[in-house]
Amino acid sequence: MAAILNLPEMDSKEFQRWQGLLEKRTGVWLSENRKSFLITSLAQRMRETGFEDYDSYFRSLESGVSSAVEWTNLVDLLTVHETRFFRDQASLQLVQSHIQKLIKKSAAEPSDKPLNVQLWSAGCSTGEEVYSLALLMSELDTSPLTNQGRHFYYGITGIDISFPALAQAREGIYHKRKLATVPSNWLKQYFEELPDDYMQVKNSIRHRTCFVQGNVLELDKAPQQQYDVIYCQNVLIYFQNMRRQHIVTHFVERLSPGGLLVLGPGELNNLTHPLIEKVSTKHCQAYLRAGG
Ligand SMILES: C[S@@+](CC[C@H](N)C(=O)[O-])C[C@H]1O[C@@H](n2cnc3c(N)ncnc32)[C@H](O)[C@@H]1O
Repeated sequence: MAAILNLPEMDSKEFQRWQGLLEKRTGVWLSENRKSFLITSLAQRMRETGFEDYDSYFRSLESGVSSAVEWTNLVDLLTVHETRFFRDQASLQLVQSHIQKLIKKSAAEPSDKPLNVQLWSAGCSTGEEVYSLALLMSELDTSPLTNQGRHFYYGITGIDISFPALAQAREGIYHKRKLATVPSNWLKQYFEELPDDYMQVKNSIRHRTCFVQGNVLELDKAPQQQYDVIYCQNVLIYFQNMRRQHIVTHFVERLSPGGLLVLGPGELNNLTHPLIEKVSTKHCQAYLRAGG
């Protein structure tokens, strides 16, 4: 591959240098069998930026005025953005029933305050996960609260390291092919038709969402908000084990008392933390923070 693109062969020392840089900055671990994928991605960026050898391109990413911008371009190529609407039905249903219980519990307590629940999707890619959660929140039975004249609000924050993925998420425009897993009555209710077989998520849903660029390795720098649900799937599977533990500990600290943490089935094995308890369910990996 390198020869076709007129790039020098990449020896294992060079590969390890790039592997280390990506891991240090994003957590993503490229195994040796993804070397040709790395070379193809580097070749694309080097062609576009005019670099002819790995070393000068590498050094340009370490310092220089445009290094941060170019790094975001490269990261976008080196990270996997695959996602889809209602990807993990069991986990999404667990979130919906958790919030439904919160509504009932809140309605049983004497109060005239609105109930405001906040959800967080970490590694949200192009937005399908966030909008799946938003549709489920919109379908909740809020009558226990509204019968008392109380309001129910929800907000969902999606973070991702990739700027292009987030730009797409904010637009909420998807080809109908990508909407095959959305029930047809919800397509009518929550989406608007656009030309050329595209549909856009309606503003009523988009206004409940917020997409922010962020790195899960730097959660200590992010605003210290607490969340009722933290949802992270198909992100940590690309990370090494030690990183996963560290990030999940941050997630636990960001959960409100009684909050729910949902991970993908393969995201992390043997999570133990004094503040959380595993939810006993066959098809999901989820944890509840004490104190609800
Ligand atoms: C495979 S997608 C998963 C999307 C969605 N969660 C799902 O399960 O369908 C993984 C996403 O994680 C993002 N990502 C990778 N490393 C990250 C990091 N260090 N911080 C934030 N997002 C990251 C990638 O940009 C990508 O969009």
